[in-house]
Amino acid sequence: MVARLLPLVGQQTRSHGTRRRPLAGAAGPGTHWREPEEVALAARRLPRWSELRPLLRPERVPLDPVERRLSHAHTVADLRAIAARRAPRAVFDYADGAAEQEISLCRARRSFARAEFHPQVLRDVSAADTGVTVFGRPWPVPFALAPTGFTRMMHHEGERAVVRAAQRAGVTFTLSTMGTTSIEQVAQEAPAARRWFQLYLWRDRAAGKDLVERARAAGYEALVLTVDTAVAGARMRDVRNGLTIPPALTPATVLDAALHPAWWVNLLTTEPLTFANMHEWHGTVADLVNTMFDPSVTFADIEWLRGLWPGPLLLKGICTVADARAAVDHGADGIIVSTHGGRQLDRAAAPLEVLPAIVDAVGDRAEVLLDTGIMNGGDVVAALALGAKACLVGRAFLYGLMAGGERGVDRAIAILTGEIARTLQLLGARGTGELNPAHVSLR
Ligand SMILES: Cc1cc2nc3c(=O)[nH]c(=O)nc-3n(C[C@H](O)[C@H](O)[C@H](O)COP(=O)(O)O)c2cc1C
Repeated sequence: MVARLLPLVGQQTRSHGTRRRPLAGAAGPGTHWREPEEVALAARRLPRWSELRPLLRPERVPLDPVERRLSHAHTVADLRAIAARRAPRAVFDYADGAAEQEISLCRARRSFARAEFHPQVLRDVSAADTGVTVFGRPWPVPFALAPTGFTRMMHHEGERAVVRAAQRAGVTFTLSTMGTTSIEQVAQEAPAARRWFQLYLWRDRAAGKDLVERARAAGYEALVLTVDTAVAGARMRDVRNGLTIPPALTPATVLDAALHPAWWVNLLTTEPLTFANMHEWHGTVADLVNTMFDPSVTFADIEWLRGLWPGPLLLKGICTVADARAAVDHGADGIIVSTHGGRQLDRAAAPLEVLPAIVDAVGDRAEVLLDTGIMNGGDVVAALALGAKACLVGRAFLYGLMAGGERGVDRAIAILTGEIARTLQLLGARGTGELNPAHVSLR
């Protein structure tokens, strides 16, 4: 038998033997002494083939390139890393970036890191119900997909891919006014999907009214009016990248095409990339917002909209108790505490931190939802414990879309859902309904 006894002892130990040693810098009166170090001895031998064989498990490498790519994505952050490689720089930055110094986004993400969970143990958590009820309807998971403009820029299948994935998972999909697939096309693509429509109020009120009527006719369940976009936020990454809609062919973008050929081939060989619910636009997003959007909108317009829309009406972008009260007083059924993913006002308060006071003020009269900065299912659980009915996620599914199209969105939804279920179980909650403020505090 090939067996030797090797003393696994370091130089220092050998020279000191088993003598007691003072801790570094702690000599003198009150010195602390360590216990004598043990001399570890391990018997070594050559392994037998019969022992090695069961350990050899060759990894199955998927042949499909999308599947292969997504097999490396275990978190939303992994999807983000893949997206950063797959999409042209200006496209990735459009989704990933925020306004000015990006303080609002950082602050929102940091607030989730501040959330400190207080688990309750020895509960039977063999099953965890991730479902919630929003406006009287059951949702299988406590999050919806937020409205995102220009989604076909992220991936040529855009909203079609996203709404199909949403339908499969039973997740509510919100179509943006700035969407690149029309209200009707999205409805046709996924007729069974739970769909909301997001509206911006334009200077041209008749055009806004037309969109609301089309959304109603096409079976959208709720109307989300975004109210934090009086003027365009200054998204410095877009300014520096010279991003225009549609992307212009400049020497820089042509060079980029060499680095991301698949994205450019898809862009140039599928239907032209334009806004589906508004007139064609050639220029920057900021110029578009400042030209079309109406900065004179007030709470009086909410009453006008209320008269047009019989279903649930939510205001998105509310961040103070006073505005939450005013929104509900003027007819809103729900509010989304949100800083627009940090893409509008910089230095805004973190939604998670203002949430409890807003829930206290209007939670008995309206559904309170939250978004901005969610990268993990634990973030969603923290928001629910602090009183949110549900959350919206934006970038999380866009990273999936950029990383792997429709299957990437499936992956993002599955990752968040798994994280939510696991967090509930480790918190000792059998379902979202058992969450309460005792489960979380903000450090
Ligand atoms: C690329 C992108 C486009 C967006 N477009 C819109 C939009 O058209 N309308 C809107 O109300 N919000 C829009 N938002 C904001 C989202 O609806 C949501 O508030 C935000 O993404 C939430 O933050 P998160 O991305 O960190 O989850 C957009 C966000 C992103 C990232």
